[in-house]
Amino acid sequence: MLEGKTVNLRLAEKEDFPLLAEWANRLEVFGEYNPVHQMSRADFEKIFDGPHEEKWFIVEKKDGGKIGFVAHFHVLHPAGRQLEIGYSLLPNERGKGYCSEAVKILVDYLFLSKDIGRIQAQTDPRNLASQKVLEKAGFKKEGTLRNSFFMRGEKRDAYIYSILREEWKEPKILTKNPE
Ligand SMILES: CC(C)(COP(=O)(O)OP(=O)(O)OC[C@H]1O[C@@H](n2cnc3c(N)ncnc32)[C@H](O)[C@@H]1OP(=O)(O)O)[C@@H](O)C(=O)NCCC(=O)NCCS
Repeated sequence: MLEGKTVNLRLAEKEDFPLLAEWANRLEVFGEYNPVHQMSRADFEKIFDGPHEEKWFIVEKKDGGKIGFVAHFHVLHPAGRQLEIGYSLLPNERGKGYCSEAVKILVDYLFLSKDIGRIQAQTDPRNLASQKVLEKAGFKKEGTLRNSFFMRGEKRDAYIYSILREEWKEPKILTKNPE
């Protein structure tokens, strides 16, 4: 468990697949700026064991309420030593600062526990809340990836954001020894 001030991140286990599949399949949870694809529990099993080495964390409030997820995965060969992140919260839990904290925790955890030099994220240019989350966690906008997503029947550009290890410097929320 990665503990923050208002939320904790708990590594998703097999028992969480039904919940993750339910969230992934509800358009309002993934929001209007994420590609939509229906996923079964078996699909989750495959992506967790697949070449992108995806890991998802359930974002939990201090009372244990499950309010969404953050995830990390490889977009290039793992030898490239960089990771991409993604996140979504339940609609009624947005706008309360939870995702900003969850992303800061995830960034701390990844730089503390993995030999990576860079973490990146892609976001729809219209997704202002997501861009704010990234900027608050220290990410910088690098540019635009053309036709990066196929979403809701059309190709869409994405902004690419990143944070480098030397920009992160030190943990913002976690201690130096996350379990
Ligand atoms: C993106 C998302 C995860 C943000 O989560 P959140 O918990 O609401 O984010 P926070 O509460 O930490 O807010 C982050 C900032 O964005 C701002 N913000 C929220 N909604 C906004 C909007 N529609 N327009 C502009 N700014 C917005 C908040 O005011 C806050 O800024 P502040 O701290 O300066 O006040 C959430 O909106 C979501 O789940 N969206 C659907 C899925 C999605 O788009 N995921 C990201 C794909 S890249």
